[in-house]
Amino acid sequence: MKKIGVFTSGGDAPGMNACIRAVVRTAIYNNVEVAGIIHGYNGMISGNIIPMQSRSVSNIIQRGGTILKTSRSTEFLTHEGRKKAYDNLVKHQIEGIICLGGNGTFTGAKVFHEEFGIPSIGAPCTIDNDLYGTDFTIGFDTAINTAVDAIDKIRDTAESHDRVFFIEVMGRHAGFIALASGTAGGAEVILVPDVKDDWQKMLNYFSGENKSKKAFSIVVVAEGDEEGGAYKIVEKLKTQIPDFDTRVTILGHVQRGGSPTAYDRVIASRLGNAAVEALLKGETNKMVGLLNNKSHLTTYDDAINKTKPLNSELLRLIDVFNV
Ligand code: F6P
Repeated sequence: MKKIGVFTSGGDAPGMNACIRAVVRTAIYNNVEVAGIIHGYNGMISGNIIPMQSRSVSNIIQRGGTILKTSRSTEFLTHEGRKKAYDNLVKHQIEGIICLGGNGTFTGAKVFHEEFGIPSIGAPCTIDNDLYGTDFTIGFDTAINTAVDAIDKIRDTAESHDRVFFIEVMGRHAGFIALASGTAGGAEVILVPDVKDDWQKMLNYFSGENKSKKAFSIVVVAEGDEEGGAYKIVEKLKTQIPDFDTRVTILGHVQRGGSPTAYDRVIASRLGNAAVEALLKGETNKMVGLLNNKSHLTTYDDAINKTKPLNSELLRLIDVFNV
């Protein structure tokens, strides 16, 4: 392979820049040219492709967001869109691609390979940490630290007013951010889409003796919880326990920004490097990940379709610590 392309796609994640840097420098180290594709699949379709040198990725390891920009492309969902993308890769003599993103990104890359034979390796970049085949995704550690910082601040005001705060964190389909930030933030209740009896547990918690024992409480809610987001949950709860002084905080996209933690920079560097090395060895349609701190390849099929369970030890601790 003489030339590869790199792009970021889907929701951005802190550490994407560190990963782009690792990809570009690993390619150059291996005497392979590298091009940056701007705005993800949309840039592939429009031909927004730029050459990258080692210095193109200087001073970005500490920056959040993505210097290559990102998008959720609807045009790439069509065969016509993918054909335009393929023609542009041929025009730029790009023989393989490194995709930084999550589920949607890898699904696109898989279909693209089936139709046009372009080999690709994915690096898991999403704050949600919901990808099978890696213990951690790039961006998750930074996101949970941002959430914990916010929870700590909310605890101060919750305690002053004796209030119950419902803090909604991101996580469309999974509760990794909620479970980790709720545990680190000392939450009394953590509501996640992956656990079905947590609503009842919350009711028991608030109706039992804790009601008089605890002056204030923190509830962390994953946005994808089956009961709805934090506002819906408070509305429903108030029909059963009306005398609560509650407040809701939605953390939202603040969790997606900011300088990546040291941990995210380290795994982004490792995974960006491993992705290029795998592609150059002839691997394709696989995601690089870290399992037990070792680099590991998982097929796109497994990464997309298999479900990574939440840490059962952490789930158990919620009950233990509510003693
Ligand atoms: O997948 C990452 C994520 O941050 C989810 O947690 C969230 O639901 C979604 O992206 C938000 O996407 P957008 O920025 O497109 O609104």
